[in-house]
Amino acid sequence: MNGELVKLLSPVELEADIEEIERVVRSESKIWLDQFHNSDWGEKKRLNEWIRSQEGRGVRQKMADELWELSRGMQKERLTAHDWRHMVLVVWGVEEIIIEDKIDDYRLGAILGALMHDWGRIIETKGRDAMRARGEEYIINDEFHSRFSWWLAKKFFNTYRGEMPEEWENLILQAVAEHSRGRDGYDADGEIAQLVQTGDRIQLINAENYYRPQQEEVNERGAPLVGEGGKEDYFDYVEFFLREISLIAGEKRQEKEVRLKKMLRECLEVGRGQRQGRGVGGGLEIVRELWSNKLAANSEEEIGRFLGLVERMSEERREAFLRGCALCQAYRDRDAEEMEEKMEKNREIIEAEPLLGLGVKLWQD
Ligand SMILES: [Fe+2]
Ligand SMILES: [Fe+2]
Repeated sequence: MNGELVKLLSPVELEADIEEIERVVRSESKIWLDQFHNSDWGEKKRLNEWIRSQEGRGVRQKMADELWELSRGMQKERLTAHDWRHMVLVVWGVEEIIIEDKIDDYRLGAILGALMHDWGRIIETKGRDAMRARGEEYIINDEFHSRFSWWLAKKFFNTYRGEMPEEWENLILQAVAEHSRGRDGYDADGEIAQLVQTGDRIQLINAENYYRPQQEEVNERGAPLVGEGGKEDYFDYVEFFLREISLIAGEKRQEKEVRLKKMLRECLEVGRGQRQGRGVGGGLEIVRELWSNKLAANSEEEIGRFLGLVERMSEERREAFLRGCALCQAYRDRDAEEMEEKMEKNREIIEAEPLLGLGVKLWQD
């Protein structure tokens, strides 16, 4: 195991100064990306041969084992938006596409890209906390976390240098570095990069519509919470998600769009008091469950603060919000069930490829 990487990703405090890391990553990643885009990455035949070889499979098995260990020791709490559960669900999203489209070539690298794409969030959160502890402020630049992820992913691949084609590594690194580029289309070119972006965006929809803004509020960034009286409220925020899904290609997009719209309508109906649901008391229980479960892992103090926010909402808002939480939980339960069903159905494919199944394994851990 790569000791430096383990330390950087685990809850151990950052040794170096985050602003210093940022300066280094800013210049190194720029040089690297310029070089990448000036190279010719057309020929994939050799890569595919390696992927299908015994040797390639062996390397991927080693990587899968290392990533499993690494991920289990990672910092999972107090992350900014794009938290731990998001990271795991994006891996699952990409695995799902790979299984459905029967992908068995170099594009399997997208699973690695998905796993690493938001590692940078861990560094920025740790950096912010360290500076806060010193009474200073670190302003998190939302566009920059992907470069931190690139820096960390590079450290991961260092151990495998010489064991795998450099081109494969580079395509994955680019996918990581550019996953947050381009709100207007697939600015990140290349199939691995597009797969990672798709997985990332798909994860933003479904029950995420309800869950994520709540999570971000508790983590002190991102969308304003319903009833907080900011310039936007939660129901406006969903517009963001609608914008995101318009970028997802093909059938998948339509299917997700239908599901998302149905859910939004339900949320809005609930908000208008047009549906019968559980009362406020029951709703609070659900909120508590939601925030206490291991994937949302927050301290008692944070749960208390969150419940305080709920208390201060207007009655109408609170009612809508709590029913939304119940709805959200129902959707999440259904997602988990679907995931298990798909695992069962595709067991053979999953067992044949070392990188497949990591997402679900981490989700269930
Ligand atoms: Fe990201
Ligand atoms: Fe992400």
